[in-house]
Amino acid sequence: MAKSPSYSCTACGAVHSKWSGRCEACGAWNTIQQDAGISTGPAKSLGAKRGSTVTLTDLATEEAPPPRARSGIEELDRVLGGGLVPASAILVGGDPGIGKSTLLLQAAAQFARAGLKTIYVSGEEASAQVRMRAKRLGLADAPVQLAAETNLRDILTTLEAEKPGLAIIDSIQTMWADNVESAPGSVSQVRAAAHELTSFAKRKGISVILVGHVTKEGQIAGPRVVEHMVDTVLYFEGERGHQFRILRAVKNRFGPADEIGVFEMTGAGLAEVQNPSALFLSERGQPAAGSVVFAGIEGTRPVLVEFQALVAPTPHSQPRRTVVGWDGGRLAMILAVLEARCGIPFAGLDVYLNVAGGLKVGEPAADLAVAAALLSAREDSALPADTVVFGEISLSGALRPAAQTELRLKEAQKLGFTSAIAPAGGKASGVRGINLATMSDLTGFVGEIFGAG
Ligand code: TYD
Ligand code: MG
Repeated sequence: MAKSPSYSCTACGAVHSKWSGRCEACGAWNTIQQDAGISTGPAKSLGAKRGSTVTLTDLATEEAPPPRARSGIEELDRVLGGGLVPASAILVGGDPGIGKSTLLLQAAAQFARAGLKTIYVSGEEASAQVRMRAKRLGLADAPVQLAAETNLRDILTTLEAEKPGLAIIDSIQTMWADNVESAPGSVSQVRAAAHELTSFAKRKGISVILVGHVTKEGQIAGPRVVEHMVDTVLYFEGERGHQFRILRAVKNRFGPADEIGVFEMTGAGLAEVQNPSALFLSERGQPAAGSVVFAGIEGTRPVLVEFQALVAPTPHSQPRRTVVGWDGGRLAMILAVLEARCGIPFAGLDVYLNVAGGLKVGEPAADLAVAAALLSAREDSALPADTVVFGEISLSGALRPAAQTELRLKEAQKLGFTSAIAPAGGKASGVRGINLATMSDLTGFVGEIFGAG
């Protein structure tokens, strides 16, 4: 049976059964191309020829956990799930200029110093540029092997001959596979290069780290199509104006997802931040209306962050709702619950919400801290500075206990906080030195904190 050719859009990646001038999925013109038969599936029907028998095992058979290589950069090793697993494929995504190349050059140097043979392939910078950066970072003496190359075939041949333990490809968008027609950076090229590199990693037992740029308009055209091919997906995030950078595991076949590593971008590269809570709270001044400290959990670690809210009469017919570092939809929900269940309206008021330090918070347990910040801003009355807040709010206005209450309280206590407000029902035995006030609904919370509301 002949395999009918397939076509895909080089702009959005949509697959079509026939060629047309315009992609129906994204509306772009002249972007549909026939997919070259790169090894993405069997070329012929499996029909007549018999395969060999596959060995079957049971679920109970224990296998030794894979040995991991550690870089010694604690924040990185932890996000990887305790070090680098041999023959694994890792994608590190992030906005251009956020510090991916810096992080990976530092990682390459540390892995190499720890005895793992490491090759760093840059498709974006000349070797001299990478060398200059290494010198600036004090890494010039690390036994990393460098290449400035974009031809995938040549890179694979070199890796096969050199047999490193780790190959870093910076970036996947610059790689060019000569069996695919479209330009470097297009979806078909990125997909083909990622496929070749990840299967090469498995076959030859070489770990590969792929760098991928995420751009505003090209999110799907970028590393998103690569995410399902790799074992681990890390995102390097942060606000360009801030020095803090968060390395976040969003997928990890070899460790917990949602783990974060915190770094600070300095003049001498990325420095590890051992105590993120202290860092995120370092810019906190006098107790101010609208400022609330949230005791959160990121991955396996407790992290305290400050939520800041500003509520002001709007000059517009449609009030503004602006959020940085949290979900806009979730903010709308909290505003609706405050209005419907507690009778506190925000109509005619602009609402701004910001997570200090550039951290992106995704936990529902931040609901109560957000509500507290909004109320505090609206009433223009500051919460006591030594108080942390956490808990999820349901649409009925009930408060749901958050997981790991104890861990949150311990972190708060470690950083000098003396009281906490949380939903009733959380497991918090054995945390001394913290005065815990528990509430079961939002109305009770409003009454307790801001008088009658
Ligand atoms: P880079 O790693 O090149 O970003 P990416 O690979 O994600 O595009 O980092 C770029 C920024 O980092 C650049 O604006 C300068 C800054 N930087 C420092 O502040 N200190 C340093 O030591 C280095 C190497 C870079
Ligand atoms: Mg770079």
